[in-house]
Amino acid sequence: MKKRTLLIFITAIALIGTNVKAEDKTYVWNSQGGEKDEAMLLKGDPAHGRDVYEVCAACHQPEGWGLTDGTFPQIAGQHPHVLIKQLADIRAKNRDNPTMYPFALPTEIGGPQSIADVVAYIKVLKMNPHNGVGPGRLVEKGKQLYKENCERCHGPDGMGDNDKFYPRIQAQHYTYLVRQFKWIKEGKRRNANPDMVKQVQNFSEDDIEAVLDYTSRLKPPPEMVAPEGWKNPDFILKKK
Ligand code: HEC
Ligand code: HEC
Repeated sequence: MKKRTLLIFITAIALIGTNVKAEDKTYVWNSQGGEKDEAMLLKGDPAHGRDVYEVCAACHQPEGWGLTDGTFPQIAGQHPHVLIKQLADIRAKNRDNPTMYPFALPTEIGGPQSIADVVAYIKVLKMNPHNGVGPGRLVEKGKQLYKENCERCHGPDGMGDNDKFYPRIQAQHYTYLVRQFKWIKEGKRRNANPDMVKQVQNFSEDDIEAVLDYTSRLKPPPEMVAPEGWKNPDFILKKK
């Protein structure tokens, strides 16, 4: 690890879970305006995106796979519109992410063009063949809950929908899924979708384990998954 990468990583671990605020009533889900709309109109340059991604790699890993313990989510495979929205939300403090916030600011990585560029780079990364999954206790129950409560938005296999800004949630690390789900349910994730918040209000602890364990085991299309043990050559070369 390079010195800067190591420093970012250590800061990140220290900041995990701090300063998550309660609901902000002024946020309107996916409203127009701001950096999201600006970045969506720009053509991304993956070569510059690779340079931007260097800072992201410290936490999300060179492959974009995050960590299987869910500290850092997998971002490889995520829809471009979702990535743009989440980055813009984090920068605008519509989604609290104190760990990442200081490293994702315009002064660190640049404006909307850099968002478009880094998203164009992430777009080519294939997904982790071995994401973190749940304990396996309630998967059958989870399947039923998923069908009844999640499928209409996140799709039958958790693939989400780029045009509608619905995230891909299949093959995401279980612990990350649980953290986000609880924050969404409790109103701590301020950029949450209000219809989802309503849909999941009655979920018990067991329901949450069940549905997210099932979700973590949903498979992306094979062509989106990286070969066993793949390392991102862009960053291996750089480290020498
Ligand atoms: C210091 C560590 C760190 C750095 C550097 C970092 N991130 Fe993150 N990122 C996180 C953490 C932690 C989360 C999840 C926060 C949470 O649990 O809500 C996250 C979440 C995200 C999400 C939301 C994922 C989702 O599924 O909703 C996106 C997109 C993202 N990061 C992209 C980036 C990009 C692009 C960069 C580089 C410009 C970057 N991150 C740099 C730590 C980091
Ligand atoms: C009405 C549509 C809708 C329904 C129903 C719904 N979701 Fe969502 N979900 C969303 C949207 C939209 C987001 C992203 C919100 C944002 O912009 O940050 C999201 C975000 C999430 C996230 C966070 C993803 C990430 O990468 O950070 C998880 C986990 C999740 N949903 C799981 C579920 C599960 C499990 C169910 C069923 C129990 C469900 N959702 C039902 C629309 C929905």
